[in-house]
Amino acid sequence: MTPPIRRFDAIVVGAGGAGLRAALQLSEAGLKTAVVSKVFPTRSHTVAAQGGIGAALGNMGEDHWLWHMYDTVKGSDYLGDQDAIEFLCRTAPEVVIELEHYGLPFDRNDNGTVYQRPFGGHSANFGEKPVQRSCCAADRTGHAMLHTLYQRNVWAKTQFFTEWMALDLIRDPSGQVLGVIALEMETGEVSILHSRATIFATGGAGRIYASSTNAFINTGDGLGMAARAGIPLEDMEFWQFHPTGVAGAGVLITEGVRGEGGFLLNKNGERFMERYAPNMKDLASRDVVARAMATEIKEGRGCGEHGDYVLLKLDHLGEERIEKRLPGIREIAKKFANVDPVRDPIPVVPTAHYQMGGIPTNYHGEVVAPKGSNPEAPVPGFYAAGECACASVHGANRLGTNSLTDLVVFGREAANSVIEFLQENPGHKDLPGDAADRTLARLARLDGQKNGERVADVAAELRRTMQAHCGVFRFPDLLAAGVQKIKRVAERVARTEIKDKSKVFNTARVEALELDNLIEVATASMVSAAARQESRGAHDRSDFPKRDDVNWLKHTLYFKEQYRLEYKPVHLKPLSVEPFEPKARTY
Ligand code: FUM
Repeated sequence: MTPPIRRFDAIVVGAGGAGLRAALQLSEAGLKTAVVSKVFPTRSHTVAAQGGIGAALGNMGEDHWLWHMYDTVKGSDYLGDQDAIEFLCRTAPEVVIELEHYGLPFDRNDNGTVYQRPFGGHSANFGEKPVQRSCCAADRTGHAMLHTLYQRNVWAKTQFFTEWMALDLIRDPSGQVLGVIALEMETGEVSILHSRATIFATGGAGRIYASSTNAFINTGDGLGMAARAGIPLEDMEFWQFHPTGVAGAGVLITEGVRGEGGFLLNKNGERFMERYAPNMKDLASRDVVARAMATEIKEGRGCGEHGDYVLLKLDHLGEERIEKRLPGIREIAKKFANVDPVRDPIPVVPTAHYQMGGIPTNYHGEVVAPKGSNPEAPVPGFYAAGECACASVHGANRLGTNSLTDLVVFGREAANSVIEFLQENPGHKDLPGDAADRTLARLARLDGQKNGERVADVAAELRRTMQAHCGVFRFPDLLAAGVQKIKRVAERVARTEIKDKSKVFNTARVEALELDNLIEVATASMVSAAARQESRGAHDRSDFPKRDDVNWLKHTLYFKEQYRLEYKPVHLKPLSVEPFEPKARTY
């Protein structure tokens, strides 16, 4: 039976910062726009972004978008595409001012301008000294952003499909994307959402790791759908471990703590970052800080009974400053670590936080894939923005605060590309007769499976495998074994059974469908990591400890079929300025 069909000009999948910014642009352009989200929009994972959004406003001292660009290219360990990075950093001030005008309640300076704090890897004058570039709303910037954008969308009459899960992309025989198949989670009913253009803004997939700062909803749904539809995934070996997750709980403690003057200590009370990054110290790039912490722990200078964490000290900032700038952190530390940071340091460990890779796009938000001799041919009707996309502005390691910048810069740009595409492509293209067949077969398999494994057990094995075999430090034997293990987990995913078959809110069904996406992301990550024979940014291999620009200054493309890998060149040429040539990274 063909599911009911609903028609829109544009569909946005995901209601975080990128999805809401894109939808707002589309609705304000008068397009009939639907947003599909597994959760109520203001509960999207953007809500957890704490420390701020990076933009060279120069409110606290001299700053320039070119310095921001330099920091981003260097932070990416030179794997970022410099055309996209220039676009990001040049556009950032404009989109932040736009957010301010939408009503985002940024912290203020006495003169009324937006307050900006220092953040890891951000510098003035090409690495000379730290700069204050992160525009923040205390330590709840993502929360403020989501509420602001949601309210604007309601005003602009965006239609929300809340607590709906997109299951698969619809592509016609020419490869054009014509919408998605989606599940209404409450009823279990499946619909075809037929659109003239589709934007994925489905966020990250940090839940492939056992210890993660990510929300439970971050299961890589967009990446799973793209991979199943024959779209490659780019640079999936690069996973950022945030230095300061609460030990044992994984909850994020913003880098803004170090931006405001907090620092890390080992068990000897030593401020060890002075040894690893003499200039930027605790505000070095994230990969550098995370590796330093892991090294301290590995070499026996970790704290606590098992020596498995370090301490983040901020009591010297004083209660008043902590309450004003970091109130959420105080609350998190009390709830998850049982310490009040006004008096005691917070136990922290590097925790999986962000995927630098994703669905390949150009800097206009158009999804691109190899076609003939063109490694980056746009896929008609398909766009992506935010963490699920790889523009690639983050390369091998993202600079803190650039995630929020990415959301609004590329959310808006993807929508502008859609607006242009729709002007040239009027009307809906016909849906293929079998548009929903594969998805319905997948659902029928799940419902019909007997004597299968529990979804939760297989998901736990997937997370354990990623954590043990593809973490902060990577070893050849562990990676090789990890590839075999994750392939076996994939076979088990295909035999899972939903034990609770009731259609009351479909929680078990949704978890099983999420596992279909998690396994695509985990497999892509493990296979890509095992193949990259160098250390770069967040990818640190014991057997290839150096960056290798001769052989590996290139992007990975992973194809689901036969776990195939291809590579494509990095865009080393910016749009209007001189390139930043790769050189050794020191902080
Ligand atoms: O540390 C933080 O507040 C996280 C920011 C980010 O990931 O950009």
